[in-house]
Parts: sequence; C-alpha cells; structure tokens
Amino acid sequence: MTELERKARALLERNTRTATLDGRTFRYSIPAKGSYPFQWFWDSCFHAIVWSHFDRERAADELRALLVWQRPNGMIPHVVFWDRSKVTVKKFWHHAESRGIPWLRAPHTSELVQPPVIAQAVERVGGELVDETLEQLGRFYRYLARERDPDGDALVSVVNQFESGLDYSPIFDDGVQYRNPVALFLAARRGEVVNKLLGFDLPRIFAATDHHVEGVLFNTVYADGLAALARLARGRDEELADWAEAQATRVTEALLERSWDEERGLFFNLTGRGETRTTQRSVVSLLPLLLPDLPREVAERLVEHLLDERTFWTPHPVPSVPRDDAAFLRRSRLRRVRFIWRGPTSQNTNWFLRQGLRRHGYDREADELTARSRALAARGFNEFYDPLDGTPCGAKDFGWSTLAVDSEVSSRQSSQATSEIITNEPSSSMIPPPTR
Ligand code: GLC
Repeated sequence: MTELERKARALLERNTRTATLDGRTFRYSIPAKGSYPFQWFWDSCFHAIVWSHFDRERAADELRALLVWQRPNGMIPHVVFWDRSKVTVKKFWHHAESRGIPWLRAPHTSELVQPPVIAQAVERVGGELVDETLEQLGRFYRYLARERDPDGDALVSVVNQFESGLDYSPIFDDGVQYRNPVALFLAARRGEVVNKLLGFDLPRIFAATDHHVEGVLFNTVYADGLAALARLARGRDEELADWAEAQATRVTEALLERSWDEERGLFFNLTGRGETRTTQRSVVSLLPLLLPDLPREVAERLVEHLLDERTFWTPHPVPSVPRDDAAFLRRSRLRRVRFIWRGPTSQNTNWFLRQGLRRHGYDREADELTARSRALAARGFNEFYDPLDGTPCGAKDFGWSTLAVDSEVSSRQSSQATSEIITNEPSSSMIPPPTR
C-alpha cells in the first residue's frame, strides 16, 4: 500500500460514524467533519468504491446504510440525517430540502436525489452485495425512469440544482452575471423552497415551475449506472438486464440528440418546461466522455476541449468552470463568500473523466490526469483545489477526494469492460506539457 492509500484509508476510517436503526447498526463515512456531518448519497457511493480497495465488508456497509432508507417507490434520498440533532435552524436549507419543520420536527432524510452512481459502486464492491441489493437497485433506476422523465425522452430531470451534485455551478445561473452573493444565494435556493411549498409533488413541480433540469452530468452518470446495472442483472434477472441495457442506450442517444451542441463541440443542460439548451460551459460539458458508445468524432472533440490549456487543461486540471470563462472564480469566492463548483477542481469529476479517457483509448492522457489528481491529493484530501496553483480551497479531510487513489482498479476494470466495445485506436500524444 502506498503512503497516499494509507492516508486515504485512515481518513475514511476517521470519518466513519455508526448509528442504529430498528436494532441494526450501520456504518458510513461523513464527507467532512464540521461542514458535512451527515451521510450524502453520491459521496457514500464514492467512499464505498475506495473502501472496496481496503475492506469489502466495510464498503458494503457504506451502501447498506443508504439502501435502508429507500422508499417503497424506489427513491433513495440524497442526505440521511443520521444525527438529527445536527439539523439546525441556521442551516435552514436542510429543512427546505426535507419535510423538516424548524424547532418542531427534525427530518430523517431529504426529499431529493443525487447523481445515480450506486450501481457502479455495487459492481465495484461485488460479492454477495450484488444478490443482496439487485432488487433495490432495479427499483431505484426504474423510479428515475418512471418519475423523473415526464416527457418520455429518456433524459431524467433534477427538480432543482441541489440534486445535480453541483450546487452553485454557473450552469444554473440562467445567463445572469452574479456580482452579489446574496442575489446568487437566493436565486439558487428559491427552487428548494418552491418545491417544498408544492409538497415535493413531482408532477406539480414539472407542470408549474422552470427550475427543473435535464442535466448532462446526471444523465451521463445515469446511463453509466444503467450499463452497470445491466451487467449485474445479467444471469440473475434477464428482464431487468434487458431493460437497463436498452435504457442506457436510449439515454446516450438522447444526450447526443438533445444536449450535444455540434457547433461548439460540447454538451449542455436542458432547462425548464421549454427544455432550453443552456450555453454556460463547465466541466459537465465534457462528462459524456464517460460513455463508451459515444461516436468517435464526439469523443475527439471533447478531448480537444479537455486538453486545451486556455480552458480546461489548467496546471491542476480539471476546473469545474473553464479558466477563460467570465464566471470562472479560481477559489469559488464571490466577494469573499464561497459558492462551490464555480471554478475549482474536484476529484470526483476528475475520476469520471479519467475513466472516460481510458474508455476511448486515451491512456496516456488518463495516466497524466491520474498523476495530477494524486499530486493534488498529496497536498491533502480536500473538497476542491485551485486549478491554477493547486492550493486546497474547500472542506478539509474530504471523503471523495480519496478517489485519487482509485487509479489502478479503474484502469484495469475499464479497459476490460470496454475492450469489446471500443474500437478506437489509442491517441497519439495530444497532451500539453504541464505549465506552472
Ligand atoms: C455539496 C456538493 C455535493 C455533495 C455534498 C456533500 O453539496 O455539491 O455534490 O454531495 O456537498 O459532500
């Protein structure tokens, strides 16, 4: 085990909490002490993937602690407030995103979802967890297909930006150039409050509001998750495997048909009832590289953007907003107030992109991104890093940053998994040398 792996394990261990529910004991890792004291859905999926390197049973427990909260309709909440005493009035948004009532009722869970990376996590953990959870996974992905796609175009919607996993990303700004932190905060949180007033009733939210979004990252992760679900179900539940496989293809096709901007060579979110294609660039625009059946010319154009030093290939890639963009804030601070996802580099989007590069035959570039991700992690497992000088600039001791140690397994698995599908030749060296 390398020093970095040892530290990753120690961090996930330190962030581990235990809780009991109906006489059963559960274990999970919080994202970070202080700022994130609960269990978050996609964070836990990432934690489980890293845990699977060290301790499969512990990895499985991380996911069991999420799955126990699945609703009868299949929904799995994005936050589990295991320690309800920490749902304070000051952090009112925990009440806005749940059925909590300040002072009167602390919620157990939120009413939102997050990017569905759980089938990938279960696949990684493997073993008996697969048989144990397959039915639940099927119900979750079917919930997304059934409840989150009112127009039936295969792309699922988040009902506000905090479901996207990318909280304050400028992709949700609707073209407004925010200078005032209060205005940005209120505009972002407004959708949560409206959803709560509408009783979190999805058909009403879709019919009456425009803050729902068919997101590129969410749908890419969904398509990748469906493909993982199909592999898990094959030989166990053929009907589910066929459904998930067909659905994964439909989602990829819909992304290409509706979110792909041929002229700009990037993918963009579709927003509101009119499904307007947005124009704000972000790391999300590159994410479909993860999908192995993306046409070669599309993958090539995404990689061109990714390796462009003027935009995404900064000294410490990959910034959440390209460096030449008007909305780019290298440390995500708007007048000293921190709004995440507005410039800094995150290890989870790097992890997706590394796999995407590998799946499309860009091994050298994937290796380089892995090396740079590990170099950042060596400066501390932080929530975010300044993409220009690498300074950690988010929450300290942050769980999913440990994904930086996942390189070996992901490269072996992804090349195995995609070797039959991908016919692309590995690229010649396109990668610009590091600039400092
Ligand atoms: C922030 C992130 C979200 C993450 C959560 C906990 O809200 O935007 O993606 O799951 O923090 O780490």
